[in-house]
Amino acid sequence: MPATLMRILSGIQPSGVLHIGNYFGMMRPAIALQAEGEALYFIADYHALTSVRDPAVLRENSRRVALDFLACGLDPERAALFRQSDVPQVTELAWILATVTPVARLELAHSYKDKINRGIAAGAGLLTYPVLMSADILIYDSDLVPVGKDQKQHIEITRDIATRINEAYGPTLKLPAPRIQEKTQTVPGLDGQKMSKSYGNTIDIFADEKEMRKRVMSVVTDSTAVEAPKNPDASTILDLYSLVGTPNEIAEMRAAFEKGGTGYGEFKKQLFGKLWEYFAPMRQRRQEILAQPAYIDEVLAAGAQRANTIADSVMERVRRAVGLR
Ligand code: TRP
Repeated sequence: MPATLMRILSGIQPSGVLHIGNYFGMMRPAIALQAEGEALYFIADYHALTSVRDPAVLRENSRRVALDFLACGLDPERAALFRQSDVPQVTELAWILATVTPVARLELAHSYKDKINRGIAAGAGLLTYPVLMSADILIYDSDLVPVGKDQKQHIEITRDIATRINEAYGPTLKLPAPRIQEKTQTVPGLDGQKMSKSYGNTIDIFADEKEMRKRVMSVVTDSTAVEAPKNPDASTILDLYSLVGTPNEIAEMRAAFEKGGTGYGEFKKQLFGKLWEYFAPMRQRRQEILAQPAYIDEVLAAGAQRANTIADSVMERVRRAVGLR
């Protein structure tokens, strides 16, 4: 492996049907990066166990994420796609990392605190979620981890844990870049809050036409009258339109907002039209993949093989460093 080839790693939880927040926040940047180095993308099924308790659902969601990711443009010739659990050594590394991780550091993590505040039971898996995520990153000697801002703290924890290992045992783990992809966007949901499955405010990438239209038409707006000018800077419709429209189209919609005379319903129709059109090639590709039943398994098997080769060599190094070998 030439030292100059950057290794890019990211993971996505199979906790439900993928929505356009996942697409613009994580999938699209990840797909764009596949040309810039060696990309490894995985389906975080171990992590999903912290919230999915139905084995059939977990299995189904994991396959679906693979299908949808491929449909959205992940190229298995360039990027390895695999299931986290196809590299079980990652749990061994997570254990080793846990032995140097202060509990206080984990208790202070935003995502942990948020979940506890929402009344979710504080399972040990939820607390140690960032330790497993650190293992995911460190087991592949990753250089770059394209994730959204919500995962920034987890990357800091990863660097902290790797530093502790290196201080205790000498240089063993490679620190990933602290750089967070500023380009990754936070996509607003139907109610204007961050789009998230847990808020029930999503627009699914592969919803059928009727469903997608219905979701778009339910974007929350203020009660400005049709004739009146509207604020383009505080509009979920325009924020979403800006993800899929051309610069000209976006400028036109902004101007129409400011001018008045067009109702929100009309803007929503335009938004729906653009969104539907934007994802048309992905829907087409998805149908093609569905017509080849073995394809997904082949891709996942090849991805798992590549990932295991790297993970095996890093684990060999770690086991020697800590004295397990
Ligand atoms: N925590 C990430 C999320 O919820 C998913 C994830 C798990 C991940 N392991 C990772 C992302 C490693 C990047 C790298 O979005």
